[in-house]
Amino acid sequence: MRTKIVGTGSYVPEHIATNDDLAKIVDTSDEWIRTRTGICERRISEGIGTSKMASRASRNALENAKIKAEEIQLILLATSTPDHHFPSGACEVQADIGAIHAAAYDISAACSGFLFALNTAHSFIQSGCYETILVIGVDCMSKVVDWSDRGTCVLFGDGAGAVVMKGETGTEADTNASGLLHMIMGSDGTKGSVLSCEARTVGNFLTGTKPNFGTVAMDGQEVFKFAVKKMPEIIEQLMRESELTIEEVRYFVLHQANYRISESIAKRLKVSMEQIPMNIDRYGNTSAGSVPILLDELNRQGRLKEGDLLALAGFGAGLTWGAALVRW
Ligand code: ACO
Repeated sequence: MRTKIVGTGSYVPEHIATNDDLAKIVDTSDEWIRTRTGICERRISEGIGTSKMASRASRNALENAKIKAEEIQLILLATSTPDHHFPSGACEVQADIGAIHAAAYDISAACSGFLFALNTAHSFIQSGCYETILVIGVDCMSKVVDWSDRGTCVLFGDGAGAVVMKGETGTEADTNASGLLHMIMGSDGTKGSVLSCEARTVGNFLTGTKPNFGTVAMDGQEVFKFAVKKMPEIIEQLMRESELTIEEVRYFVLHQANYRISESIAKRLKVSMEQIPMNIDRYGNTSAGSVPILLDELNRQGRLKEGDLLALAGFGAGLTWGAALVRW
């Protein structure tokens, strides 16, 4: 079987928080944020939670794919900021959009989550288990960042992206036919402390543990170093294992964490920034939402032509990293 992306969708909250807005709550400046990260503004949800954002992106993707919710057989939702411990966000989306025939569950791999979910969906399709899968990447980072920590709160934004994937007769080995051609995933749990967010708990009456409102903790420079090394490595691996070359790639659709990280990847791969589309200036780092939001923007702007080769790649807490090579 071959796996095709047949529709894309996204949703970002309406409220825009500019760098100047953040400079009113922490000791920072528009100049610092722009030059260090490339971010000018981000969207912050006002009462629309993770699952609702995911449902809106999913509806857009279904519309774009011209597929009815009842046709979906599996929903994979990648997030690290679910509204509830249970039910899962995927089940909430299922109920919301009326995907009554779907199995639904969440996947947690932080900013790599969408790529992990996409690759999982690809494997299910290839194995013949499912034919039509809705894959969502969504995060509402505004509810887990410490709004008094200038080192992290300026980096993130809220948003959701989704794709509909469909199985078609054919083989992955035919690299000229459209579909997902190759995938990579990896994790290094020994580096977990570099980027973390403790689970929220109400405490434990036996141990006397107090309530915990975990927020994002990050060693920014370590994450930076990891990203600029790992991302080019996995893209090169993706191309090598697919027996295709970097020169054949039209766009590198990368996780939006920092403009300087993307510039460094471009330099290492010897490609121009024109091939690395960015929207971090408008949305900041939307974690699992970033790759599918960007993909949807490219799709809706008509920038993706049939036959274009796309290298999707992301990295995040865990540490985790993932990539997928897609012939559009
Ligand atoms: N405004 C003003 N000053 C700040 C701010 C801010 N918002 N944040 C930090 N600073 C200060 C620091 O306190 C430090 O001051 P000091 O020199 O007096 O101690 C100074 O700026 C430099 O700080 P650095 O941390 O060295 O700045 P750096 O150039 O490394 O940039 C950044 C920090 C933007 C976080 C960068 O390291 C980065 O982008 N790292 C990658 C982060 C990332 O990608 N995270 C998401 C991962 S994906 C996921 O899974 C969630």
